[in-house]
Amino acid sequence: MRHEPVMVAEVVELLVPSRGGLFVDCTVGLGGHSRALLEAGADRVIGLDRDAAALDIAREALAAWRDRVELVHADYRELDRVLDERGIAAVNGALADLGVSSMQLDAEGRGFSFRRDEPLDMRMDQSRGPTAAELLRDVEEAALADVIFQHGEERYSRRIARAIVAARRESPVTTTGRLAAIVRGAVPRRGYQRIDPATRTFQALRIWVNRELEGLDAFLFAAARRLLAGAKFAVITFHSLEDRIVKHAFRAIARAEAAIRVLTKRPLVPADDEVAGNPRARSAKLRAIERLA
Ligand SMILES: C[S@@+](CC[C@H](N)C(=O)[O-])C[C@H]1O[C@@H](n2cnc3c(N)ncnc32)[C@H](O)[C@@H]1O
Repeated sequence: MRHEPVMVAEVVELLVPSRGGLFVDCTVGLGGHSRALLEAGADRVIGLDRDAAALDIAREALAAWRDRVELVHADYRELDRVLDERGIAAVNGALADLGVSSMQLDAEGRGFSFRRDEPLDMRMDQSRGPTAAELLRDVEEAALADVIFQHGEERYSRRIARAIVAARRESPVTTTGRLAAIVRGAVPRRGYQRIDPATRTFQALRIWVNRELEGLDAFLFAAARRLLAGAKFAVITFHSLEDRIVKHAFRAIARAEAAIRVLTKRPLVPADDEVAGNPRARSAKLRAIERLA
C-alpha cells in the first residue's frame, strides 16, 4: 500500500533531524514521517500509535532502522507515561500528524468509509472502546444531533439524527452502507454536490468514537514541556476543529512560558504540486512551536 506522508519536506526542514538526537513521532501511522526523520539523520525515534495494525506496517517500513526505532502501542495522550517509563526527560523534536491514515480509510473492515458496505466500527484502536454501531444503538437523538453538528459542522444535524433514530427503531444501524443511505436520504438534495452528503456525518462519528478532540490540548501542553532547548514540535491537522485547538493551545503555551515561541503565525499549507499528487494533503495545515531555552 502506497502512503505519502503529508508535508514531509516541511517537517524535516523544521525539526532538523540532521543535527541528530531523539525524536518522538506521536502518530507514527505507516511510518512515513519517521522514515524521513531517520533518513535525514535522527539518531533515535520513538513512534506512538493507538492502531496496532498501523504499527505492524510501520515496523516493516522502518525495518532498516530497527535498532534506532521503538514503536509503542499507545495513545498520544499517554505521552508522559511512555517517556517516563523510558527515562526520557526531553526530546530533540516532536511531531503529531493527527487524524486517520490512508490505511485506516482504505483498509477493509475498519468501517471508516462510506464508499464500501461493512460493519460500522470506526475505532482506531480496535482493542478497546465501543464501536460506532454500539454508540449509535444507545445515544439519545438530541445528543446525536449535537455530535453531528459539533464534530461534523453539519447544518442538517437534527434531520440526520432524527432519521438515524427512526431507522434504528426498525433495526439497529450496524453497517456503513446503511448509515450512508440514511444520511443521504435525510439531507435535502441540492444540484451539484462537491462532497458526498454522508461525509460530514462520518467525520463527526469518527471523531466521537475515537474521542479525538478530548485531551488534545493537554497533550499539546505535555509535548511542549518535553522539548529540549532548540527543539521544535510540529503538528499537522486535517480539519478546522483540530486546527483551531492547536492554534489556541500553542498561543496559550507561548503565553505561559517565555521560552516557547510560536513559529507559525499562519499555518503552513502544502505546496500546489503536493496537493496535485496527493489529494489527502488538500486540507492539511502545519503549526509549530520552538523551545528557545
Ligand atoms: C495521519 S496518520 C499518520 C501518518 C504518519 N505520519 C505517516 O507518515 O505514516 C494519523 C495516525 O495517528 C493515529 N492516531 C490518531 N489518534 C491517536 C491518538 N490519540 N494516539 C495515538 N495515535 C493516534 C492514527 O491511528 C493514525 O495512524
